[in-house]
Amino acid sequence: MADSTATTEGIAERTPRSYPFSRNRLELDPVEARLPQEEPVSRVQMPYGRPAWLVSTHELSKLVLSDPRFSREATLVGDNPRESPVDYAQVAESILSMDPPKHTRIRQLVGKAFTPRRVEAIRPWARQIAAGLIDDMQAAGPPADLVRSFSYAFPAIVICELLGIPDADRHEFRGWTDGMVSTSAASPEEHQEILLNLFSYFERLVAERRRRPSEDLLTGMVQARDNEDRLTETELVFLGMTLLVAGYETTANDITNQVYTLLAHPRQLAQLRERPELIPEAVEELLRFIVLGDAVNARNATVDIQLGDVMVRAGEPVLCSLAAACHDESVFDHPAELDITRQPNPHLAFGYGPHVCLGAHLARMELQVSLETILSRLPGLRLAVPENELAWQEGTIMRGPTAFPISWDAD
Ligand code: HEM
Repeated sequence: MADSTATTEGIAERTPRSYPFSRNRLELDPVEARLPQEEPVSRVQMPYGRPAWLVSTHELSKLVLSDPRFSREATLVGDNPRESPVDYAQVAESILSMDPPKHTRIRQLVGKAFTPRRVEAIRPWARQIAAGLIDDMQAAGPPADLVRSFSYAFPAIVICELLGIPDADRHEFRGWTDGMVSTSAASPEEHQEILLNLFSYFERLVAERRRRPSEDLLTGMVQARDNEDRLTETELVFLGMTLLVAGYETTANDITNQVYTLLAHPRQLAQLRERPELIPEAVEELLRFIVLGDAVNARNATVDIQLGDVMVRAGEPVLCSLAAACHDESVFDHPAELDITRQPNPHLAFGYGPHVCLGAHLARMELQVSLETILSRLPGLRLAVPENELAWQEGTIMRGPTAFPISWDAD
């Protein structure tokens, strides 16, 4: 571990550590877990792009994610640190890569179509979808693969319905989004092709909604206006794509990850079964505890900025380890322990600042509905294989088991 009194120059000159450090199930890498105390700002090298600063404390992560001196837009040029050969967010029209005021305008326009009220309004419908998927699992009887039968199916139906993606197109769905979050050795050309296919698909869908408005979110976005302002065609297409990708694989993986984590903590699971009213708090704690992905998209410093004991120079990229920040012991007591009653729980799993997850309300609702349905409808829920036989995803930015065979006490 590095000497915390090292000078900025000393750290900058040191060979950067390869990042992500290690991947063991959903656990935080032990070196990364110690960074907030031992090296709040360290030097890392991602698989692609130039070396970067990695910020690991809760306080500094919030600063980097909310201070306008750190820019997403500035990362559009140059060899951006990233996990995949092509970063789908690295386009000027993507909401993820805009700075205020351009970004504020888009968030306000989309916000009109994507309100917490709208999410609450679909909760009863989402409960029915989840119950229907469990009905099918029960009809077939145990064992079942939770990943295939529920975790991927549920958020796919929700986001497709919300966006208005026709039934006939949904079979292609997983291939598109898998390609977008893949870090595996596919060539930049192949990544580019996936991006272009998805772009043309949404181009057609947006044109269709303009011709024939419907009740869905995409129509809401097409019609969203702020006085004379409205979203352009390209902005709409990229928003549709981002919502699809950001809103699907994240939630799909985390549904299984949350069930896995609860099964690994039987006392917490028993408490949750006894007191299902704790589900909203449990979901927040599971979001904090589970390492779903690695560092959040890089920001570039636009001026020289002192971060802890490091002087970050103008133009240098900075990454935030949200997972390390969610385990920062200066904010969370016993961060390595899962505590479904943890209060307060100011976790950063959805990010922070202007780019804080646009779909956080939807994700929370889906995760809560998933847990309440799975726990209430599948008594005696257990893994149907020994834990060490689970296979974990590789070559993608998300973590989660590839399949999750479960059993339960059938009537
Ligand atoms: C467990 C589920 C989810 C997690 C952990 C998650 C996490 C995040 C994080 C950390 C960011 C910030 C990225 C940054 O600052 O660079 C983000 C942004 C975003 N998320 Fe999520 N997300 C989840 C689900 C969803 C869902 C369900 C949707 C929508 C349907 C969604 C849509 C978005 C969008 C559009 C952005 C970009 C916002 C902006 O740049 O202003 N996410 N998400």
